[in-house]
Amino acid sequence: MTDTELEALGVVRDAELAPLTTFAVPARAAYLARVESVEALRRVLSSPLAQLPRLVLGGGSNLLLTCDFDGLVIRMEIKGIELAADDEQGRTLVIGAGCGWSETVDELLSRGWGGLENLALVPGTVGGAAVQNIGAYGLEAAERIVSVDCINARTLEERTFDVSECDYGYRTSIFKNPEYADWIVTRVALRLPRAFEPRTGYKELAALFAGAAPESPLQVAEAVKALRRRKLPDPKVLPNAGSFFKNPVVSRVKQRHLLEDMPQLVSYPLAGGRAKLAAGWLIEAVGMKGARMGRAGVYERQALVLVNLGGATGAEIKALADEVARKVWLRFGVKLEPEPVIV
Ligand code: EPU
Repeated sequence: MTDTELEALGVVRDAELAPLTTFAVPARAAYLARVESVEALRRVLSSPLAQLPRLVLGGGSNLLLTCDFDGLVIRMEIKGIELAADDEQGRTLVIGAGCGWSETVDELLSRGWGGLENLALVPGTVGGAAVQNIGAYGLEAAERIVSVDCINARTLEERTFDVSECDYGYRTSIFKNPEYADWIVTRVALRLPRAFEPRTGYKELAALFAGAAPESPLQVAEAVKALRRRKLPDPKVLPNAGSFFKNPVVSRVKQRHLLEDMPQLVSYPLAGGRAKLAAGWLIEAVGMKGARMGRAGVYERQALVLVNLGGATGAEIKALADEVARKVWLRFGVKLEPEPVIV
């Protein structure tokens, strides 16, 4: 395609991706398209660029690039918050996939609309939240999602997935399934309850409120923000992608064996004879909290978070992640799975 044709589509050639990701590791994209509307996205997807390997970027906060991307990167920048329903039980909002998640939570709170306060300050976009079912402090995005609007990158079909079709689980959805890789999320409908239903069961949050019921969603949001600031590095200061590993799910039998050896292990029973282990605890137990390899590090206040200490490459961070996982595997026989998408 000619430069004029690319320009008309809002596409640039040979673009640096580091500033578009929170790990800030260097990597270039052969083509970068920033799309602000479904129509603009359609135009890009109708062009010859659609034949290339494709990577959709939201806030770039759940991504580790370990090499250049010889294809088309689509930066989702569809914005807008639309009030689709407002009734006695609650409100339904249709939000552009490119809206910042944290900014959206704050905007809704400023209108006095609670329901997402436990997910305050989570980086990334609304689209990313719907793809990976973000969760923190006792709430998962899937609990508020009603439906997800998508466009198919190959057929250009537009479709609304009801939440029941999204197959939501812990940090996962149908949109992470390779069979659904052609569906690009464009808008997300969220339902917020009108009544304030404070959720302060999460241990650290409960400790902050110490038995006193919070008065408003804003107050819960402030508490969550304080907790996050205490434990999680600000990507603008110390580039990172939040938790680098998922908390592993094991059988109750395995949990019991581990607890016999280490009664201090932090773990939670799940339904169906399973249990979730605190990966941060396991990483700390193998002595990797605060460890460094090259310019990559394990954050000293939360072992689940890997950080770019300055000038790290994606490969360096990946090497550290592999070393952390290897140590946990050797010591506990537990497999740690990365949470971010690794390219
Ligand atoms: N722990 C340690 N050492 C550590 C880190 C944690 O012993 O270095 C222990 C803590 O003491 C605690 C337990 O592990 O008893 C759980 O720790 P924490 O409450 O910090 O939560 P987490 O399981 O480490 C998860 C999410 C976070 C989310 C928090 C709060 C995952 C992979 N991570 O972390 O999500 O903010 O709970 O709900 O599920 C993210 O996904 O990017 C993320 C930051």
